[in-house]
Amino acid sequence: MTTRILSGIRPTGHIHLGNYLGAIRSWVSMLDQVDERLFCIVDQHALTTQEDAKDLRKNTLTIAAAYIASGIDPVKNHIFVQSHVPGHTELAWYFNCITPMGWLSRMTQFKDKAGKNKDQAMTGLFVYPALMAADILIYKATHVPVGEDQKQHVELARDIAQAFNNYVGKDIFPLPEPIIKKETARIMSLRDGSKKMSKSDPSDYSRIHLLDDNETIELKIRKAKTDAEPIPGAIDLLGERLEAKNLLSLYAVFTKTSLLHVLTEFEGKMFSEFKPKLTSVMIDHLSPVRNTMLELLADEATLLQYLKRGADAANTLADAHIKEVRQALNMV
Ligand code: AMP
Ligand code: TRP
Repeated sequence: MTTRILSGIRPTGHIHLGNYLGAIRSWVSMLDQVDERLFCIVDQHALTTQEDAKDLRKNTLTIAAAYIASGIDPVKNHIFVQSHVPGHTELAWYFNCITPMGWLSRMTQFKDKAGKNKDQAMTGLFVYPALMAADILIYKATHVPVGEDQKQHVELARDIAQAFNNYVGKDIFPLPEPIIKKETARIMSLRDGSKKMSKSDPSDYSRIHLLDDNETIELKIRKAKTDAEPIPGAIDLLGERLEAKNLLSLYAVFTKTSLLHVLTEFEGKMFSEFKPKLTSVMIDHLSPVRNTMLELLADEATLLQYLKRGADAANTLADAHIKEVRQALNMV
């Protein structure tokens, strides 16, 4: 069976370290293990929350630049914008027609974002997971690398694939599997270790942006919440020190070692000594990515050419699968 991965990021707000480690870097680590690789900038998803759709064009190009700068070659992989492939929204409609409202009401992201007044929530926000299922299944993707918060949506995509196959009596869609890397599944906020790092946090100090310059990275780490205890030598001794655990885990990720190894290295030291070390490994890793992103963003024509190339390849695959779906639905 052909293995195909598909994943995407919404072009909303500032792309941050959680997106980079939880999503992009995990994609890069599996590029040579799969037959076909599609990376989408999901602009239509950004429209489900209007405040996020500001600066859509700029944010879309920034995410494309982040993919390429992180090591996804736009010639060997398909990097494209969701709205350039009309098949996504067509397939999403067919999925809306076979997806019970109860399945969508159970999505925790909908519950979080809609808040108390569900009647006022937009329909697009409610049916968003059906569009995400279409993003994945229009390519018959077999694996979907994401952060932990997207697991429920990928599981719903499996249910929708199965429901569609049952409805038409044919195994059109594979059941896609989420791939979630344990070490980077949930990068936490720098201000509150119980919350994930997120674009929607009002404080810029809660996250490192991929376009932050070195001074800003240094400042944000210096201001990151910690405690006045020394670093312990064992993981269970970290207990409820969530902010401490987050920073130490980040160091482990950037130095490609384990949390335990980091604890052994810094046992008995204070965070005032640890933070400059973390800043330094982070800057070493992130500054080349930022510089390449800035170069790519300065040459918009080339970036748009890459996106066109990606969209052409994606449309070829999507069109073939949409034809199959229309036939299975008995459309003329
Ligand atoms: P979004 O910004 O919601 O479009 O997320 C894009 C991708 O980044 C998804 O795969 C998310 O699971 C992942 N992601 C977002 N925030 C984090 C985080 N704090 N830790 C790990 N992964 C994340
Ligand atoms: N829902 C995802 C998020 O909020 C983004 C997304 C849209 C996605 N379509 C996708 C991720 C398809 C993986 C595959 O992060």
